[in-house]
Amino acid sequence: MIFTVANQKGGVGKTTFLINFAYYLKDFKNKSVLVIDTDTQANCSYSLCNANIIGDTYSLFTDDVNILAAKISGIKKDEINLFKSTIDLSNENEFDNSINYLQNLKYLYTLFDYILIDTAPVLSNKLIYSLELSNYVITPIELEIYSLQGLSLMLNTIFNIKKNRNNDMSFLGVLPSRVITTNKRQSKNLEKLYSEYGQDLFLPFIKYRNDLANASASQTSFFKSNSKHKKELINVFDTIYAKM
Ligand SMILES: Nc1ncnc2c1ncn2[C@@H]1O[C@H](COP(=O)(O)OP(=O)(O)OP(=O)(O)O)[C@@H](O)[C@H]1O
Ligand SMILES: [Mg+2]
Repeated sequence: MIFTVANQKGGVGKTTFLINFAYYLKDFKNKSVLVIDTDTQANCSYSLCNANIIGDTYSLFTDDVNILAAKISGIKKDEINLFKSTIDLSNENEFDNSINYLQNLKYLYTLFDYILIDTAPVLSNKLIYSLELSNYVITPIELEIYSLQGLSLMLNTIFNIKKNRNNDMSFLGVLPSRVITTNKRQSKNLEKLYSEYGQDLFLPFIKYRNDLANASASQTSFFKSNSKHKKELINVFDTIYAKM
């Protein structure tokens, strides 16, 4: 399965979701997991510093599939495997040819139960190609006006790709993240979204929890922390997992 988190809006919880969903799939569902960090910010590569690095994401665009297959070694099914981000990914002009990326992902697809792709907050070729290959897509948002404003553009992009280039894609939903339940503005925004798009488009939300930010900052699994909010996140992930 190829799974992409997509939102061209920054800071909405894409990476935080993806890191913890990777731990969830590995530790609670016994799945083999590969994470591909396509974002030059490399936040995901930073927080997954203990992952088993099996390559640079850049090489997925430059190497053909025979080179990739010859290079790959040391996959560890009981660890999170990672293609890490490097600064080479920043020159968008180099990514106007998707052939290697598409072939390499199809090959990697045969080696792992789940491939999770973290993407940058920009409508780039790297995001478009990832969506073209994805079985599942999720769009995290923040319940604040700037995030809401960009949502219809992001959904249009995703559903256009689904219609024209990837009929197999299943959009799992919009995932409100960093939600402060006591904040009236956010509650109102959520109601507004439900009435505008229909509640079915939305997944249960992830609350704002300091422990989640702490786990990412300290490069450890939230599920290995002593947070009392672990069950809450597991419940959200169980809902997502049940939809796949
Ligand atoms: N549920 C949460 N509770 C508390 N803090 C959170 C939560 N989700 C994310 N954060 C924090 O919010 C910030 C932005 O989150 P994150 O980096 O996951 O967003 P992003 O969408 O990946 O950003 P970018 O678009 O820049 O890649 C980070 O500092 C992260 O630790
Ligand atoms: Mg990110």
